[in-house]
Amino acid sequence: MKLPILLSALTAATLVSAYDASACNNSPSLCDKPYDDVTYLGAHNSPSLRNAQTDFNIGGVQYFNVTVQLSAGVRLVTAQLQLKDGKPRLCHGSCSFIDSGTLDDYFKEIRAWLDKNPSEVITITLINEPRVSPTDLTASFASANLASELYTPTGTGEWPTLRELIDAKTRLIVYLTDGHNTATHPSLLPQFDYTFETAYENYSELDFTKCAPDRPAGLSAADAVASGRLPWANRYLYSEGLVQLPNVGRINETNNPDNLYASLTQCADAWGGIPSYVLVDFFNEGPAIGAIDRLNGVTKAVNRVEPPKSPKRGEDGGEVGDVDVTNGGSVGERKALAVKALMGEDVPVADWILVAGGWGKMIKL
Ligand SMILES: *[C@@H]1O[C@H](CO)[C@@H](O)[C@H](O)[C@H]1NC(C)=O
Ligand SMILES: *[C@@H]1O[C@H](CO)[C@@H](O)[C@H](O)[C@H]1NC(C)=O
Ligand SMILES: *[C@@H]1O[C@H](CO)[C@@H](O)[C@H](O)[C@H]1NC(C)=O
Repeated sequence: MKLPILLSALTAATLVSAYDASACNNSPSLCDKPYDDVTYLGAHNSPSLRNAQTDFNIGGVQYFNVTVQLSAGVRLVTAQLQLKDGKPRLCHGSCSFIDSGTLDDYFKEIRAWLDKNPSEVITITLINEPRVSPTDLTASFASANLASELYTPTGTGEWPTLRELIDAKTRLIVYLTDGHNTATHPSLLPQFDYTFETAYENYSELDFTKCAPDRPAGLSAADAVASGRLPWANRYLYSEGLVQLPNVGRINETNNPDNLYASLTQCADAWGGIPSYVLVDFFNEGPAIGAIDRLNGVTKAVNRVEPPKSPKRGEDGGEVGDVDVTNGGSVGERKALAVKALMGEDVPVADWILVAGGWGKMIKL
């Protein structure tokens, strides 16, 4: 008679332990650390995906959506805003190149994730070159029920601990590169008043050995540290070519946890400590999170979902093999594009760029 009750109690206990609420950002050891004492893995251009859903758009710099990113331990996401017909959308470079939808939908996905993961703090940086107004941005946060989740600094220059942010239900730190107005919208923080970052347009790992701030411009590392700004390390590479594309061919070196750890710790003296933010492409490769856990002293992360293996073009029925962008894609891709163009179909700009430079080889074949 007692057995069924015992069993149901056990089942309930198992369900409860599925999410460990005693942890903050994947570890109990981080709860009492001030926000600025933790290192966060960042997904560069988080909404710009390269997978079957986008037909492996070469403008995509992540394989998996923001839900998968956050579940795997990413705690900073950056997203680029562009105007299309006067309305803001999430587009990397240009909306005719890669369009990842509306800010409202992106925020709703983040809201859903925060609800399922109640003891996690995340940071969003909006690359707001078109200067979407703070009022419009606030409306987008509100449409996703995120407006009250935004942290507003107290003005003391001190950051709260992760636990304090969680308890106050202000688990979202938001930076804007441009278009902020702290007088009217104090929770939309000017990124370069709060952080200093390394160069972001790089083609070689050698550049990762340089610690000098690139933005804000004209600030020495010593002055950046003295100002209290948080160090932000950009750790992604482009490949040389017609257009600036992520160097996916070197991703296992760029995101390798030992390489990352070495390049991040060697700047610690110059930066007055380990970086707060580390921004990478294709975050699941490496895996980059290995370096971040090491910097945070986390050995047994909880509440994480291991991301799947990176998808490859071809596994859904096309040609098998990596797309070699610098050589103009595969013969199959050039043929497919030629057929589309001959049939009078609209060929996306990204496809033309993909095959650029590949025509010569096609003729030889
Ligand atoms: C995110 O990606 C995962 C795995 O690819 C998928 O199962 C899920 O439906 C996606 N979520 C959204 C909101 O698109
Ligand atoms: C890459 O970064 C370094 C410093 O870290 C910078 O001086 C250099 O100009 C950048 N390289 C390119 C090609 O822009
Ligand atoms: C990256 O991949 C290349 C080619 O597969 C391999 O030779 C190299 O050892 C890998 N590097 C790391 C750090 O895993």
